This record gives sequence, structure tokens and C-alpha cells, in this order.
Amino acid sequence: MIKEIYFAGGCFWGVEHFFKSVHGVVSACPGYANGQLDNPSYEQVYTDKTGHAETVRVQYDDARIGLQELTSLFFATIDPVQKDGQGHDIGTRYRTGVFYKEQEDLPVLQAEFAHQRTLLAAEDPAAEFCPELVPLKNFYPAEEYHQKYLDKNPGGYCHLDFKVFVYRDLYQDAKALIEGEPDPVARMSEVAALVHERMKFFWTGFYRVLPAVSTGTELVLGPFQGPAACLRIPYGRGVCGTAWKQARTIVVPDVEKFPGHIACSSLSRSEIVVPVFAQDGTVTAVLDIDSKELGTFDRTDAAFLQLVVALL
Ligand code: SME
Repeated sequence: MIKEIYFAGGCFWGVEHFFKSVHGVVSACPGYANGQLDNPSYEQVYTDKTGHAETVRVQYDDARIGLQELTSLFFATIDPVQKDGQGHDIGTRYRTGVFYKEQEDLPVLQAEFAHQRTLLAAEDPAAEFCPELVPLKNFYPAEEYHQKYLDKNPGGYCHLDFKVFVYRDLYQDAKALIEGEPDPVARMSEVAALVHERMKFFWTGFYRVLPAVSTGTELVLGPFQGPAACLRIPYGRGVCGTAWKQARTIVVPDVEKFPGHIACSSLSRSEIVVPVFAQDGTVTAVLDIDSKELGTFDRTDAAFLQLVVALL
């Protein structure tokens, strides 16, 4: 069945460009939602006085993609702590939110919003979560020149980092490649290779929670791509052991400033570690990625890599 949902994620040029290539999406239409004026023009909305949000109507085939997955992809494209704006685009017309038409969609959306609030609280307990979850009041498609804007204007302005589009395709390819494969090491191997190749990182790999040499459990290397690395990491040690202990993603802009960082290679300057969770919420592995540059990883990497490891 074809269904629809409305995503306000900042400038609608980039949001449309992102969603129109998501598998299962049949159309993505930029427009103006939830304002006070009928049939507003771009110039009227631009005054920021009409109450509209730049919004993309996403029509999707629910046999191919679900609302939860679509909404999780939406969250990977936004900064949920930026109020009334995204990137350099400032104003209530660039506020973020999900607007729904069907009451039956609300429980799925509420669950995803709760999950996103939890992720944000793990990252920064003091941060304010800004996206709205409200019914759609009205929607007017934008003028023709806004439709498929970035196809008509290659290299045109886009508030989204280019890596958002690379991660979108990587996520979809990982999903298609590992679907139906029951062996966890085979799935991790495929994901490590895809992430490493597409993102051109220095080291990409997994450490799995396995029986320790003496007692208890510890992180054990593999599968990975890149130079030889430390074989075992104890609970709570290094970035990996800390991400395991705290059961949350850790972004390290400068490894020299992370107390207890384990240097498998002196070339590594920044790092991200993303836990892999079992159904019951326990950590079964971590995805560890190293870069030779400082400050390589941000919220976009964290959000998409969390989506990728959730496929495992
Ligand atoms: N730097 C990691 C150790 C693993 S290597 O980066 C591959 C850490 O501190 O846990």
C-alpha cells in the first residue's frame, strides 16, 4: 500500500534529494506545511511570518519500507538540538519535525521519537530535543523550480553534508547484501568491508564480546579492514572498552585527549566506536573506526553507523 509521511528537516532541497533515492520511496515532494496561509509562495514563507515549515511529503510503499525505518533515516539527516534552523538556515520555516496524517502512525512515530531522545540523552543529558511530532494541518507543494532542485542544479546549495548521501547508499547496500545471512561473522565482515571502502577510513572493524583468556569476557578482534591491530581489549579500557561499558556511541575528535586511549597505530588521530546491541539490549560487539585526521567523526557518522550496526 502507498502511504505518506511529512518530514521537515531544514532546507527542503536536500531533504527531497535524500528521500527520493531511498528504496521503497515512490515520490518525494518539497512544499510548505502547517502554516496559517493557503497556497503560500516561497517569498511569503521566506518572511518567516506564515508559520509554514519547509517540508517534504514522502510517499512510500509500505511493503518495501516501514515508517520506523524511514523516520530513523530522517533523524540521521538532522541535528535534533538545533531549534528553528538546520545548518546555516535559520528561522521557524527550517524547524524540524514529523507531521502525520494517519492516527495509526502515531505509536510507531512516538516509539522512534522516544528512541531518538534516549540516544541524545546518552550523548548529552542536558541537551534539548527539538523536533516536533504533530499532525499535518496542511501542505502545499512548492513552486516547480523547487521540485528536484538539486537534480536541476547539480552542485547547488545543500545544507546536508555530502557524506549523508554516501551513508544513505551504504546503508541500503549493506541491508541488501546481508539480508538472509545467518552467520554473524559473515555479516560483520561484509559491513566492515563496505564501510571501509565507501568512507575511505584508515581502520574499520569489529571487536566482539567473547570469553576472556582468564575469566569473564573481553573484546576480541575481528572482522576488520586495515592494518594489524590489538587482539584483545578489557571491559572499560580504551575507547572500545568504554563504549562497551557505557553502552553508547563515543566520538573522539582527538585520541590524545581521550584518557586511556589504546593506540594500535600511531597514525590514528580520531576515532568513533559504536556498540552493537542484542535484542535484549546487551552489547555483543563494537564497531571501531579510526581516522588519520583529527575531528573526522560527528553526529552524522554516529547516526548512520548506528543504523548500519542495527542491521547486524
Ligand atoms: N583505539 C582503540 C583500540 C582499537 S584500535 O583503534 C583498532 C581503543 O582505544 O579502544
